This record gives sequence, structure tokens and C-alpha cells, in this order.
Amino acid sequence: MRRFTDNRILRALLAVQLAAASMLVAADDARGADPHEVQHFRTSDRCIACHNGMITSAGEEISIGLDWRATLMANSARDPYWQASVRREITDHPAARVPIEDGCADCHMPMARTEANLRGQPGAVFAHLPFDPAKPEDAEARDGVSCSLCHQITAEQLGKPESFSGGFVIGQPDAAGVHSEFGPFDIDHGRTRVMQSSTGGFRPTQATHVRQSELCASCHTLITTAFGPEGKAIGTFPEQVPYQEWLHSEYRDKQSCQSCHMPPVQENAPIVRVLGVNRPGVARHEFVAANFFMQRVLARYHDELDVSAEARELNVAAHRTMQFLQTRAARVSVDAPPLRSGRLEASVSVENLGGHKLPTAYPSRRAWLHFVVRDRNGGKVFESGALNPDGSIQGNDNDVDPLRFEPHYAEIRSSDQVQIYESILKDSAGAVTTGLISTVGYLKDNRLLPHGFDKSTADADVAVHGESVNDPAFGAQGHRIRYSVAVGSSPGPFQVEAELWYQPIGFRWANNLKRYDAAEPQRFNSYYDSMGGATAAVLARSCAPAACQAAGR
Ligand code: HEC
Ligand code: HEC
Ligand code: HEC
Ligand code: HEC
Ligand code: HEC
Repeated sequence: MRRFTDNRILRALLAVQLAAASMLVAADDARGADPHEVQHFRTSDRCIACHNGMITSAGEEISIGLDWRATLMANSARDPYWQASVRREITDHPAARVPIEDGCADCHMPMARTEANLRGQPGAVFAHLPFDPAKPEDAEARDGVSCSLCHQITAEQLGKPESFSGGFVIGQPDAAGVHSEFGPFDIDHGRTRVMQSSTGGFRPTQATHVRQSELCASCHTLITTAFGPEGKAIGTFPEQVPYQEWLHSEYRDKQSCQSCHMPPVQENAPIVRVLGVNRPGVARHEFVAANFFMQRVLARYHDELDVSAEARELNVAAHRTMQFLQTRAARVSVDAPPLRSGRLEASVSVENLGGHKLPTAYPSRRAWLHFVVRDRNGGKVFESGALNPDGSIQGNDNDVDPLRFEPHYAEIRSSDQVQIYESILKDSAGAVTTGLISTVGYLKDNRLLPHGFDKSTADADVAVHGESVNDPAFGAQGHRIRYSVAVGSSPGPFQVEAELWYQPIGFRWANNLKRYDAAEPQRFNSYYDSMGGATAAVLARSCAPAACQAAGR
């Protein structure tokens, strides 16, 4: 009886939406004979029609569509840095253009690429640009990592190496042509029918794998194949391995990727605009993490980049990313004992609070220490690691010369030494590179380790590289570094400040694209250069003596 009543209310409430949806379905039917017909997916506008406009009883806006469309995943194909990088790779390796475009499309344009592969073709990137919304393949390409793709990934192979590097398996429709969209809940028959009929055959289906880290690991593990000059494979490289870092940390038994990156709604809440059953354990589709910089670029260049989210939503999302970074990513403390023979000896401790290395994933990310000593009058006596307005770091060799870089330091004694937590990649000649498809290994990897990560037992894919291997103060508790500074005749007492900075796209990574004389790299660099100080942000800070905290420093 209950279900019957629900269904009647449900039909009444959904009448308008169903009318709109059936027009879309009819448009699909009209395309029926076209061999390019979009078969396996629906673009997000179809899903957002119902999964939007939800508010909790406490007044929290929890719309799935609004949250998702301001994320990096929703914009993975529009991302101007991604487009510039694909152009760079096919310019460097022209003989491998087809497999490179297919490979890059795998995770960044996954719906269009999956459809192409099902037609027996490789995925393309530039054939979809600029996006022509009248073409179904372009609409799918533009939609990035969309609802209908992520929710159709099956449990098959998840967690196994076959699933990595974009090896997720999309479910096949059943005999009646119905596709399963997997989710965490048990949905009753009436509601299942509503979604299925309005989407033209996409049915909500309960499955446990959507709450597991292994789902995310399929795309968030990227082992690249390096190509030599003739387009021949010459090696592989673990470019992005946050899942493997997480597996080697204490979080593997405590918190999934979802639990940190899809914050929980604190009360029972509806997951759909109408027919709201209040469900426990709803997760926000914020996918909040680190790349506030690209969210700001997408906001500022919203129209030229053809972004669906409004600029305001992207700015709110960038702000949320910043809050996440400043509260959940790291802690810094500094401790400065009194002067000894004209030298100030301070030690700075940095702790990573996240579930993997800090930074993790895409290798353009870097974090570093900005350390300043001031005298009694507030004058700077010493400084290491200041950010320049162009996004470079003062004293960092790599920002001046692409072939050099800062080592990992146990102690810093002069202002041209900077402690940078980063990965530095090498090509087959052993030279520093930022070319993903030229990279065969790491020259340096001293990214901060998560709690529980034992560097001495780490697998090769997540190992530490460079001087940090033998630094006893670098480990699962973070890093403790000394600063030993000659203060000369400056008047004490001295005040010491330490800040941990983070920059999603490091100066060297952006600037190495400048030599590519093509539209996408040139456009990206003009954006980068226009953002000024907004390329980087402070994650955590501390100062000594304690009284300086009150001064807001
Ligand atoms: C006509 C409205 C409507 C449309 C359009 C729609 N859905 Fe749903 N969806 C629902 C309803 C109703 C439920 C069940 C809500 C409940 O029981 O609380 C649901 C549930 C879900 C669930 C949860 C499944 C589970 O087992 O936990 C997922 C995932 C989902 N939808 C994805 C999608 C995707 C992807 C699209 C676009 C292809 C889409 N929906 C389009 C109405 C819709
Ligand atoms: C296995 C899936 C996968 C494949 C294949 C893949 N990427 Fe990515 N890419 C990602 C993920 C996940 C991120 C986000 C990681 C992060 O934020 O640190 C990313 C981020 C990036 C970024 C940084 C974007 C930004 O705004 O900062 C660039 C550039 C990029 N990828 C280029 C490429 C290129 C070029 C290729 C092809 C050679 C490629 N990707 C292939 C998964 C993939
Ligand atoms: C990157 C993968 C991914 C994308 C893209 C994605 N989802 Fe989800 N979605 C999830 C995961 C994972 C969960 C389960 C989260 C949990 O319970 O820990 C989920 C949960 C849901 C639920 C159940 C309610 C909830 O929020 O817990 C619905 C409904 C849903 N998604 C619809 C959508 C729609 C609509 C879109 C597009 C606007 C979308 N999803 C995009 C991964 C994704
Ligand atoms: C189909 C491939 C795919 C799947 C599955 C996937 N991701 Fe992503 N994800 C990407 C790509 C590609 C990007 C980078 C987009 C860009 O920056 O251009 C990304 C970016 C992100 C970011 C933004 C990182 C930043 O720097 O701010 C977060 C957070 C994220 N994903 C979390 C998740 C979680 C959690 C899951 C599992 C529920 C998941 N992803 C599943 C492909 C995927
Ligand atoms: C304990 C909470 C926590 C868990 C668990 C967690 N993360 Fe994160 N993640 C963070 C924090 C905090 C950041 C921001 C700091 C940073 O960049 O590391 C982040 C950043 C990221 C980024 C962006 C990194 C960058 O600098 O571009 C990606 C991608 C990501 N996480 C993916 C994952 C994946 C995949 C998993 C599961 C295997 C996961 N995370 C598990 C807390 C967590």
C-alpha cells in the first residue's frame, strides 16, 4: 500500500520533469539509425534534472549536480593545462600521436573514448575541440568524468593492476538494453522505474564497490609508458600512485578516498529533488582536494573555456578547496632556542595529515618551506623560499635552470637553499624533464609521507628518492629540518616564522610549455602568467616565540 501511495505522489511530482525528459529521449530515438549514436552513457544534464536542488532540514544545500559541475573531474576535458599538455606530448612524440591521444582521453574524456573504443576506434582529443554541442561525441567528451560514466564502472578487476591506468570496466546493458548505474543504496521498484524511464534505460542499482577506494584507483593510478624517438616503448613510470601510497599508510584500514574527498552529509538527507526518502550516509560530490588554481582559472576564463558551472560556483569551490587545504592537509611547528655564538638555530617540523604523500598525484605539484627571521624592529635578517610574483620560488635552481633542482636538505644555512617537497623526473638520458611520455624514473621524491608510511619497506612505485632516503628526520611523522642562520650584528630578540606553501602547477612545469608554438600551450601560459600570486597558497604556518602568533604572523 505504502509503495502505491508513493508511486502516485511520485508520478504527480515528476510529471513536468518526465515531459522534459521524454523530449530528450525522443531526440535520442530520432538519432537511432546513426552508427555514432551515443549508446552507453547520458550526459550530466540528463542526470542533474533530478539529482539537484536538494536541501537538508538544517538548510544545507546538497545538490549533487551543482557540487559536481564545479569540480576538476567535471572539467577534465576543458582543463586548458591538460589540453596544452596533450599538445606537447604529441609534438614531442609525433610517431605515437594516436596511442597518446587515446591514452590521455581514457581518463579525461572517458565517455567519448569508451564509445570510440566500442566502435573499434582509438579515442581522440583534438577532433573534439572546440566542442560542438550538436555532435553527441563532443557533448560526451566535454562532460569529462561524468555521472553516468563513474556510476557504470563495475566491480570487475577493481584493485587489480588491470584496472589501473584507466582500465575500469563499464557494464554491458542487459537483454532489455537497460544499463545499471551503481550506487550505495537499495532503491525500491517504483523509484527505480522513474529514473529508468526518464533516462531511456539507466537504472539505479545497489553495489558495494562504489564506496571503495579501488573505484577511484582505476583512474587515480597512472603508470605511463615512455616512448623513444621512433615511437617505441622504452620504459614505464609510476606517474600518479596516491592509491598505492594510501595502501602503504595507516589510512588503508581507516579511511577511504571517498571519506575524505566526498564529505558526509551530517544528517539523513534526500538524494533526489522529488520523492525524497531521507537517507543516512549521503556523501557530497564536492571532490574537494587541492587544485584551487585551476578552479580559479576556470572561473576567470569561464566563457572561452566553455565551462557549464557558473563563475561564482567555481569561486565558491576554489574557496572550499582552500579551506580543505588549510585545515586538513598539514601542520607546521617551529622551535627556536636562544642564540648560540651569533647563529640562530631553529628547527621546523612539518606533518602531513592527508591519506597519501603531500603533494601527491600529478607531478607538477609542489610544497615548500618559506622561512623568515626578523630582528627586534621587524627587519628581515634571513629569508628562504619566498614566492616571486611570476610563480617561481626565490633561490630554487629548477625555476632558473630547467636542468637543475634543489636537493632535499637536512639543514639550511643560506638563503639560496630552499626546502621543496616535490618529485623531479628524469628522461632516458638521466636529464630532468617535465615530459610525461619521456619520463622513465625519479631523480628526487621527498614528498611528505602520510602517517604509517614506512619508507624502508615501500615498494618501488612509491619509494622515496634522493637525500631524503637517508635523512633520519624524514619519515612517517613528517620532516624535521634545521635552519642555521648567521644573524651578525642585527638586534635581537629575533622572531622566526615558517610557512608551508603549496602550488598545484609549479613554475617550471608551466614555463616548459612556452617553447611549444601551438594554440593550447600559448593559451595556457597566458592564463598562468595572468594569475599573478594566485598560483600558490599557504597551507600552514607557525612562528616563535609564541607571542608572535597573536600578531597574526
Ligand atoms: C526522473 C528523475 C531521475 C533522473 C533523470 C535520474 N535519476 Fe537517478 N535516481 C532517481 C531516483 C528517484 C532515485 C532513487 C532515490 C531514492 O530512492 O532515494 C535515483 C537514484 C540514483 C542513484 C543511487 C543508486 C543507489 O543504488 O544508491 C544513482 C547513482 C543515480 N540515481 C544516478 C543517476 C544518473 C547517473 C542519472 C543520469 C544518467 C540519473 N540518476 C538520472 C531519479 C532520477
Ligand atoms: C589513468 C588516468 C589518466 C590518464 C590516462 C591521464 N591522466 Fe592526466 N590526470 C589524471 C588524474 C587523476 C589527474 C589529477 C591528479 C591531481 O590532481 O593531482 C590528472 C591531471 C592531469 C594534469 C593536471 C591538470 C591540472 O589542472 O593541474 C595534466 C596536465 C594531465 N593530467 C595531463 C595528461 C596527459 C597529457 C595525459 C596523456 C599523456 C594524461 N593526463 C593521461 C588521470 C589521468
Ligand atoms: C568520480 C566518480 C563519480 C562521479 C563523476 C559522480 N559520482 Fe555519484 N557517487 C560516487 C560515489 C563514490 C558515491 C558513493 C559515495 C559514498 O557513499 O561514499 C556516489 C553517490 C551517488 C548517489 C547516492 C547519494 C550520495 O550522494 O551519496 C547519487 C544519487 C549519485 N552519486 C549521483 C550522481 C550524479 C547525478 C552525478 C553527476 C552530476 C554523479 N553522481 C557523479 C561517485 C561519482
Ligand atoms: C574515469 C576516471 C576517474 C575516476 C573513476 C575517478 N577520477 Fe578523480 N579525477 C580524474 C581526472 C582525469 C582528474 C583530473 C581532472 C583535471 O584536473 O583536469 C581527477 C581529479 C580528481 C580530484 C581533484 C584533485 C585536485 O587536484 O584537486 C579529486 C579530489 C578526485 N579526482 C577524486 C576522486 C575520487 C574520490 C574518486 C573515486 C570515488 C575518483 N576521483 C574517481 C579521473 C577519475
Ligand atoms: C585522510 C584523508 C584522505 C584520504 C583517505 C585520501 N586523501 Fe586525497 N587528499 C587529502 C588531502 C588533505 C589533500 C590535499 C593535500 C594534498 O594535495 O595532498 C588530498 C589531495 C588529493 C589529490 C590532489 C593532489 C594534488 O596535489 O594534486 C588527489 C588526486 C587525491 N587526494 C586522491 C586521493 C585518492 C585517490 C585517495 C584514495 C586512494 C585519497 N586521495 C585518500 C586527504 C585524503
